[in-house]
Amino acid sequence: MCGIVGFSGKREATPLLVEGLKKLEYRGYDSAGVAVLDNGKIDLTKVKGRLANLEEELKKTQSKGQVGIGHTRWATHGEPSIVNAHPHLNEKKTIAVVHNGIIENYMELRKWLGEKGYKFVSETDTEVVPHLVDYYYEGNLLEAVMKAAKRLRGSYALGVICTEEPDKVVAVRKDSPLIVGLKEDGNFVASDIPAVLSETREVYLLEDNEFVVLTADGVEIISEDGKKIEKEIYHVTWNADAAEKNGYDHFMLKEIFEQPKVTKDTMTSRIMLGEDIKLDKINLTKEQIENIQKVYIVACGTAYHAGLVGKYAIEKLARIPVEVDIASEFRYRNPIINDKTLVIIVSQSGETADTLAALRLAKSRGARVIAVTNVVGSTISREAHDILYTWAGPEIAVASTKAYTTQLIAMYIIALHFAKNMGTLSAEEIEALKKDLLAIPEKETEVLEKKEEMEALAKKIYKEDDMFYLGRGFDQAVAMEGSLKLKEISYIHSEAYAAGELKHGPIALIEKGTVVIALATQEELFEKMVSNIKEVKTRGARVISFAFEGNTDIENTSDEVVYLPKVNPLFAPLVSILPLQLLSYYISIAKGCDVDKPRNLAKSVTVE
Ligand code: G6P
Repeated sequence: MCGIVGFSGKREATPLLVEGLKKLEYRGYDSAGVAVLDNGKIDLTKVKGRLANLEEELKKTQSKGQVGIGHTRWATHGEPSIVNAHPHLNEKKTIAVVHNGIIENYMELRKWLGEKGYKFVSETDTEVVPHLVDYYYEGNLLEAVMKAAKRLRGSYALGVICTEEPDKVVAVRKDSPLIVGLKEDGNFVASDIPAVLSETREVYLLEDNEFVVLTADGVEIISEDGKKIEKEIYHVTWNADAAEKNGYDHFMLKEIFEQPKVTKDTMTSRIMLGEDIKLDKINLTKEQIENIQKVYIVACGTAYHAGLVGKYAIEKLARIPVEVDIASEFRYRNPIINDKTLVIIVSQSGETADTLAALRLAKSRGARVIAVTNVVGSTISREAHDILYTWAGPEIAVASTKAYTTQLIAMYIIALHFAKNMGTLSAEEIEALKKDLLAIPEKETEVLEKKEEMEALAKKIYKEDDMFYLGRGFDQAVAMEGSLKLKEISYIHSEAYAAGELKHGPIALIEKGTVVIALATQEELFEKMVSNIKEVKTRGARVISFAFEGNTDIENTSDEVVYLPKVNPLFAPLVSILPLQLLSYYISIAKGCDVDKPRNLAKSVTVE
């Protein structure tokens, strides 16, 4: 997730921009840049990598200007590089833009601007903005930005400067955070409060479609229909540490609550009703897809669990056989691979050593490789033939939450894309599934309202030593991930089992009071699941069931039931995992564990 800082005032802008960007480092970034207005021109400095590199470069630029914009970029469209780093300029170098978010219709706009003679130098979606502002500029920057914003679809926070109006920063937000910081000797815009906290505690919290004109002497906020808006000043009372977490106690909780947004983002511009699924970095032709005889999904940890959902989805929808493999096993078991094999590598970081080795093995044996990863320019993204990026933004808590849900979205998108090419689903069926999938973010928001319910449940069971997670079909895959979350952050031993497998061994461990989490979202398997619940119940288990609203029958066999909003059972993992994440989180809190940095674990495992 990118970070934006802008300043207009009576002090040198550069050090303020850099200090502000440093406070946004927690958001993650892979390149950075600033643009400062000085003596009628824009001084532009951009680097790949850390802010320390930017500080080095800025020593050469030595800009003394008092108006500027700065940016840290987390790559989505185009690899991390100087050219893709922000700010982006128009051709005349009179307008500079920083952007946070994703512009959905950038391809269309690029084409349109290209026809008008505009030339692009980067691969970013952002670069359409300085050209659009240039196109609309007739002596009033605010008006030009307003007209440009009307053409944009997607999410954006923008900061814009222009040599013709050297006292101003113009900014706007839509579905991407932006605040204004107020001070006597200058004013700020920023993606987040920590960026301005060392300078001021007086801020305006901007709403969507509000435009801002920042000068040294004041701040004007203007609605999209041009009316001036009076806003109350918000006085920040919390410290920078709490601010980074957006007011949440931990990054994990913040990331759990980001899931509706990132789920939506990952579908953005790929799944649209009435249009073909668009996967610009997957170049497999229909014929190549038809020729696939076998799919391997290879990954580690949570990504492996996303693969388990992928198997059910691809086999169900596209009728292609799928095997899911743990990367450290796959690489050493001499898997049967040929040029009719497709390997899908799933990795949040794109750097996991075993997963990368599996990718290299698959390639060397002639397989086609698709990478599903969250990090643009990561080794895995560079080495794969095709890529589907998850747009979860940086994940800071070690236990993965939002990366997992976006990996699930990636699995469903691939399954639908293959189903279309294989002809296993009709156009109407695909359209109906797309509609169900697009409805998920709203359902996720609904299920997150169970926060208190999960907290109360956690308080009842946090002293357990062992727990079981059971499910069938998609629920079994989610049980695996739910159980992993519990182990990772609460250190409670737990096991996940396919419910039907229980009587072949693990049921021997069930005794009076053993906690069993039973997932029962799969309609076709509901009765079977209820029978499995009865099996453990009669042996004394304390059963907590998760089922869709309306399935009240389950209350007869469960000690407690957590009801989930009804969704297409195919997509149940996207909603059923959320309360399980919350449950683990609150159990971890109740036990006094270090939620964001659990013992013995690392976020990125780059050794074997
Ligand atoms: C580590 C992390 C897990 C992650 C796994 C795979 O174990 O703690 O959260 O699922 O690595 O990481 P990757 O970046 O390849 O998805």
